[in-house]
Parts: sequence; C-alpha cells; structure tokens
Amino acid sequence: MNTVTVVLVLLGCIASAMTGDCNTLQRTKVKYQWSIVYGATDNRQAFGTLVWRDFFGLYPDRSLFSGVRGENIYSPEFRAHVVRVFAGFDILISLLDQEDILNSALAHYAAFHKQFPSIPFKEFGVVLLEALAKTIPEQFDQDAWSQCYAVIVAGVTA
Ligand code: HEM
Repeated sequence: MNTVTVVLVLLGCIASAMTGDCNTLQRTKVKYQWSIVYGATDNRQAFGTLVWRDFFGLYPDRSLFSGVRGENIYSPEFRAHVVRVFAGFDILISLLDQEDILNSALAHYAAFHKQFPSIPFKEFGVVLLEALAKTIPEQFDQDAWSQCYAVIVAGVTA
C-alpha cells in the first residue's frame, strides 16, 4: 500500500466512525455505558426490575408472560425471566464489535421469539433507553443507544 492509499483508508475509517448507524465509536460507547449499568452485579436485578416495571406501566398487557408470572414482577419466576432476558441482552451488547457472531446471536433470539404473536421490541427500547438515561445521566449517549438498539431490533425481528 502506498502512502496515498493508507491516508485514504484512514480517512475512510474516521468517516465511518463519525457517521450514524451504530458506528464503531457508538458501539464502543454503548459497550462502555452498559458495563457501568450492568457490570456491577448489585445493580443488575434493580435495573432489570425498573425496566420491566416501567414497560408494564406503559404496555399493561401481560398475557405474553403468563408462563413466568407476569402479574407479579417481584415473583421469583418473573425475576428469573428478567435475568434471562438481560443475560441475552448482555451477550448482544458484548458482541457489538464482533459482527458475524452478533448476527448469529441475533438470529437465535429472533427464532426464539417467533413463537410469540408480536413482540413490541421498539416499545421496549423506548423504556430501556429511558431507564439507561435515568441510571447514567452523565454518560448516556442517546444517539449511540438508539442507533445500536435499532441494529438489535432489526436482527431480532428479521
Ligand atoms: C432485545 C431484547 C430481548 C432479548 C435479548 C430477549 C431475550 C430473551 C431470552 C434469553 C429469553 C429466555 C429464553 C429461554 O427461556 O430459553 C426470553 C424469553 C422471552 N422473551 Fe425475550 N428478549 C428480549 C426482548 C423481549 C421483549 C421486548 C419481549 C416482550 C415485551 C420479550 C418476550 C419474551 C417472552 C414472552 C419470553 C418467554 C417467557 C417464558 O419463558 O414464558 N422479549 N427473551
């Protein structure tokens, strides 16, 4: 590679890191911000419960969750469900910088959720982002989260 090619490649990398669509910089930010929220084990259950409580506040139909006692989000059954969902979400966030494995994980969750009539992933994202903003107001980057969550929704609804 000559010098001009190297410069062009570098400029291309910088340009792609600055544009939208859950770019490299945004993926790094999302991973870091998620580690603040979800890395400390003490916070995990509290954060998960906050998200689902707010979610049911806005979307009260709990019929999808009859198998995990959705009528009582503080029950061990529903808490275990929350842990499973966020463990899955944690995997997806950790794979944001490994696109081929990320796509495979997304396909797995897409196949799993297909058994349910319609999953309101977008609405869940609104609540999730609000909970993140409340939990890490100083660090929260709304653009990065909304663009990277859109990548996740595209993958789990494909
Ligand atoms: C990107 C976000 C999400 C991820 C990563 C995710 C992941 C998971 C995982 C790992 C499980 C457990 C699978 C198992 O038992 O083996 C699960 C179950 C389930 N998820 Fe999701 N989920 C997400 C969003 C949602 C949303 C937004 C809804 C509906 C509002 C939903 C509805 C369900 C239901 C109904 C189950 C099965 C509950 C049961 O065991 O009866 N998920 N999800």
